[in-house]
Amino acid sequence: MNLKDLYINFFVSKGHKQIPSAPVVPENDPSVLFNTAGMQPLIPYLMGQAHPYGTRLCDYQKCIRTNDLDEVGDTFHHTFFEMLGNWSLGDYFKEEAISWSFEFLTKVLNIPVERLAVTVFAGNEIIEMDDFSYNKWLSLGIKKERIVKTSKDNFWIAGETGPCGPDSEMFYWRSNDPIPEKFDVDDSRWVEIWNDVFMGYEKKSDGSVVELPKKNVDTGMGVERVTAILEGVNDNYQSSIWKDVIDLICNIANVNYDEEHQRSIRIIADHLRTSVFILADYSGIIPSNTDQGYILRRLIRRAIRHAKSLNIDLTSNFEVEIAKLIIDKYKNYYKELEDNKDIVLNELTKEKEKFTKTLEKGLKEFEKVSTKDIDGQTAFHLFDTYGFPLELTVELANEKGLKVDIQGYNDKFKEHQNLSRTASQGKFKGGLAGNSVIETKYHTATHLLNAALKKVIGPDTHQRGSNITDERMRFDFNCDHKLTDEEKNKCEELVNKWINEGLDVRVEEMSKSEALASGAECMFIEKYPDIVTVYTIGDNVSKELCGGPHVKNTKEIGHFHIIKEEASSAGVRRIKAKID
Ligand code: ALA
Repeated sequence: MNLKDLYINFFVSKGHKQIPSAPVVPENDPSVLFNTAGMQPLIPYLMGQAHPYGTRLCDYQKCIRTNDLDEVGDTFHHTFFEMLGNWSLGDYFKEEAISWSFEFLTKVLNIPVERLAVTVFAGNEIIEMDDFSYNKWLSLGIKKERIVKTSKDNFWIAGETGPCGPDSEMFYWRSNDPIPEKFDVDDSRWVEIWNDVFMGYEKKSDGSVVELPKKNVDTGMGVERVTAILEGVNDNYQSSIWKDVIDLICNIANVNYDEEHQRSIRIIADHLRTSVFILADYSGIIPSNTDQGYILRRLIRRAIRHAKSLNIDLTSNFEVEIAKLIIDKYKNYYKELEDNKDIVLNELTKEKEKFTKTLEKGLKEFEKVSTKDIDGQTAFHLFDTYGFPLELTVELANEKGLKVDIQGYNDKFKEHQNLSRTASQGKFKGGLAGNSVIETKYHTATHLLNAALKKVIGPDTHQRGSNITDERMRFDFNCDHKLTDEEKNKCEELVNKWINEGLDVRVEEMSKSEALASGAECMFIEKYPDIVTVYTIGDNVSKELCGGPHVKNTKEIGHFHIIKEEASSAGVRRIKAKID
């Protein structure tokens, strides 16, 4: 059995319910581009909202972190990874969490205690030293020399604000060298394999830390790293997760997985895997110049550039071959890979073709201009004319020992394009915890607009995506034509009529089949758990599967008006609207 199954079975045997992996793009949360930890989709529940599955949950979650993009190419950095997690929502706390972590590591994974070490929180001015965890590890058989009390890195939070708390991290001796008696956190042969966060606090935007009404447990274990450890390989890319993908790339390129080629091979493998998962996600991201679409574009283009450097024939369908293997490897765990296979393969090829048209010329241009450091204007020209994402120019420049004026590039960029700042900075903070009152209003307005579109355009009109900020809402829906002014006016009128009627917003829990039978609207039924929450507005004006939050009465929303209606992608229109 593989690690994911072992983990889920173990925690199910301890009374946990398995929840499905959420999409890689967080819903209703514009502050993050991708889920970066298993806990992220659970933030509302860690903050106190009741979870339909109860108080003990476990899952494997698709995560994407792109802040270390440049590091990919070594033995252990990945842009996509799966995180195993178990959660207590005000249920068990340190006693059980630590006991089960220990039991899973030593009894299920059969890791010898001698190879383990842990850290516990040493305390700070707000929260005291975690004596409980210290004593618990000791009682389980971890020697005191292997327990380090530290406050550095032992307080976990996703970003700036939200649920957080001290943690206890578990380490594994990943080396053939003799295992030292004493645990040294700074010795890189000790690698972190699991983290138990005792999430009893909330960090507010003013920097204060307050106790949450319930004490939660949030844990996270990286599948890639632990699989490599269990299989005794020092290079993650040589574990069973990657081995056949790496072999296939070697085969296609007709090279060995040796020092000369490793970096490019790993980059191709990593970036294509992440691209496959982004494209297959139910959120409908395709390559573009903003937000997640731009990250996706960068990943695909970088993979192609490295394929070229390995002399892979770019006119062959190498990207399809590799993507197909990745889909086959994961489809039993992520149904969307099979469901959206055609989209994945088509989009990969389309982006490859788009990029290869200019790649050759772009590389020639780069050769011409790279006799000295690259200024902002030149880097921008490479982007604008040859489609070279900045990171690609930086990477090419680094290979020649040259610098790129990134600030200058950014200035040029701002002048020319309205690239989302979120994407360019890889911004990451809080999560749903940051849902403001205004965002909540927009959220309910989204449901009303969805209902209005069905009445005005037809019952087959469905949501294809949405995005909410403090300032506006964006709503994508299927529709084969540009809306007429009359249609737009009608939608606006209907939404405002429902707002003025002061309709109550009700929330109910029910099984997925009941929800569907009741006619509740939902974007992607597959990604919801078996028990769902359904929000109903008024007397069936709108009924949708949704995690909330929503206003209690539509009167709270204010006045709604559409500011723009435009094409989003083939067969999909986009409405931008405001409330005031
Ligand atoms: N949320 C914690 C982490 O990602 C468990 O490390």
